[in-house]
Order: sequence, then C-alpha cells, then structure tokens
Amino acid sequence: MTDPSPPLLELRNLTTVFPTRRGEVRAVDGVNLTLRKGQILGLVGESGCGKSTVLLSILGLISRPGRIAGGRILLEGRDITRLSGREMRRIRGKDIAMIFQDPLSTLNPAFLVGEQIRESLRLHNMMPGPPWPFDRGRKAREKKRVLEVMEQVGIPAADARYKAYPHEFSGGMQQRALIAIGLACRPKILLADEPTTALDVTIQAQIIDLMRRINQEHGTAIILVTHDLGLAAEFCDHLAVMYAGRIVEIGSTDEVIENPQHPYTMGLLRCIPTVGERRAIEPIPGNVPDLATLPQGCAFSPRCEYAREVCNQGFFRLQPVGTDGPAGGNGGHRARCLRLSDYRLPEG
Ligand SMILES: Nc1ncnc2c1ncn2[C@@H]1O[C@H](COP(=O)(O)OP(=O)(O)OP(=O)(O)O)[C@@H](O)[C@H]1O
Ligand SMILES: [Mg+2]
Repeated sequence: MTDPSPPLLELRNLTTVFPTRRGEVRAVDGVNLTLRKGQILGLVGESGCGKSTVLLSILGLISRPGRIAGGRILLEGRDITRLSGREMRRIRGKDIAMIFQDPLSTLNPAFLVGEQIRESLRLHNMMPGPPWPFDRGRKAREKKRVLEVMEQVGIPAADARYKAYPHEFSGGMQQRALIAIGLACRPKILLADEPTTALDVTIQAQIIDLMRRINQEHGTAIILVTHDLGLAAEFCDHLAVMYAGRIVEIGSTDEVIENPQHPYTMGLLRCIPTVGERRAIEPIPGNVPDLATLPQGCAFSPRCEYAREVCNQGFFRLQPVGTDGPAGGNGGHRARCLRLSDYRLPEG
C-alpha cells in the first residue's frame, strides 16, 4: 500500500526532560509518530505517562528548566524544535491549534467570547486588507467569520452569544467556544488534551461528534490525548499506547483493540466497562512508576503478569506484530515486549 499523502507532522525520537531534585525525568523518551492529513491519532495511557508533554513539546510550550533534549519535530518536513518564540507563536493557532481539558481556565473571563475568537483571527492576520484606518470593513468581515465559526461548532444564536462572557456559557458551550478559537484560522492539526474529561457524557458525545465533523469536512488531522481507551477506540483511526514516557504499542485502532500485544494494552482493555455486560472490571495491579527512579529494562515489568527476570535487563524495541500494513506511516502494528521475542541485553 502506498502512503496517501506526505506527513503533516512527524516526531522523530522525541525526548523531553524535566530536571527534578531527584534527578532528570524523561517524561517523553524517544517517541516516534507520524500524522497525516485527515488522520485521527489517539494517545492513551495512565496519568503521568507523558501524553501532555508530547503535545506541549509539539507546540513549543515546554517551560524551562524542562527542555526538548533530543529528536526532531517536523511540521510538513520543517524542523520546528529550534524556532524562535516569535516563529512558534505564528505556528500555534495558525497551523496547529490546541484545546485543553478545562476551557474556563483557557478562556479569558474578562473578555466577550466573540471578541476572543476574533482576536485569534487578528493575531494571525486571517482577514488581510488595507491597513487601519483605511480598512473600514475589516471588523465586519472578521465578525462575520466569527459567527460562521460559532455556528460551525454548534453555538446556537451565535449573534446574541457573541456578546456573552465565558461565565455565561455552560461547560459544553465553553468547550465549543474554545474549539471555535482553535478553528478560526483553519489549522491543519488539532491537538486535544482530554477535551471532554470535565464534561458530562451527553455533552462529551456532542464534542466528540463535533471534532469528527471538523475532521471529515476539513481534513483537519487530530491527536486526541485521553486516559479513556474506550473513547479513543471509538473516535481514532490509529492508537499509540504510552507507558512511562515511551510508546509501548501502536497501530491501527482495529489491530490494537482486537489484537492487543502488549500486556499493558491488554490491561487497559480489561478496565473498560461495557454497558449491559456483567463483567468485573480488572484494574491493572500496582501503580505507574516514578519516572525519576525507573527500573532497568521494561518499565511495566513490575506490574506485568508475564514478566520474567530478563525483562528487567533488556532494552526492547517496538516490534512489528500485526498484519495491517504501514498503518498510515507509523510502521504498522508494533509493540515493545519481550514476549514478542526480540530483545537485547544491556551493553557492557
Ligand atoms: N513542569 C514539569 N516539571 C517537572 N516534571 C514534570 C513537568 N511536567 C510534567 N512532568 C512530569 O512528566 C511526567 C509526564 O507528565 P504528563 O503531564 O505529560 O503526563 P500525562 O500522561 O499527561 O498525565 P495526565 O493523564 O495526568 O495528564 C510526569 O511524571 C510528570 O510528573
Ligand atoms: Mg496530561
């Protein structure tokens, strides 16, 4: 199968570290990912495994003393890890938009919702015309586009709501407003970090529907970060499962869900409750490891039912395990586990 389009976004061996009192923490440790136009990639894993750090690294928002210690982030082939703050600001919002879990902390409570969406257009000069004060029609044009976007994200009575403050919106409407800010400039990529976690289930479904519609109508590629593997399985065409800063399994959603190969993915799947099925949920024993004191070898081995002594020594690469072809450029279904029979002992 030939790949349909060149990658929009590629992470190559991305490594992001935070110095802590107990030593350097590798929150993201050698992550490789490819995202193409129209793809929806789910990044899943328990709390603290590095999901948000991957997104913040892409946006150039890792604050000092944290830093990208290695690897490259290619946006349409151009490495963006070394861009200046100013160049990065141009990319954020224009090429890559981000929505977060808590919309109220992202919206500015002091400004009208409509004005905040309009600000996003102005910042990226989306409605160019003659310079002020000669361009008398600019405000009207911008407002028209804002109303268009508000309608697109399902904010009813957009005209009246343009002049509302964020606190006058419900949680679901606030999240829609945030998505509108993200979409105003027609970004190619939408990064969504737990965008529905703070919402009730019906609103959650509406927001997911909205993101799906944006993806289908505009080909916007999406990375959805969530700890909810059930949600990711429903929404995403590809899944990457992260554990302790590394991808432990990756592939098309069908392959990963129907034919999971890493014991951690299997464990996450056993935690998904199913409506109408009387089945005990089996939590994964133990806790996520402390990244400052990671064990040698496979970080999951202390919690793994299949662990053998050698799991604490080897370094395991992602191994091809499936039959689903190149999986949109992510190298097919692969998992990082000794059971998949390729490992090497540490050197020296
Ligand atoms: N600014 C920081 N300073 C120090 N350590 C950090 C910082 N940000 C993240 N970390 C560490 O990096 C690791 C990954 O954190 P991250 O927030 O990316 O996880 P996550 O998968 O998004 O978790 P959650 O599901 O809870 O949001 C954690 O161990 C965290 O403690
Ligand atoms: Mg997070």
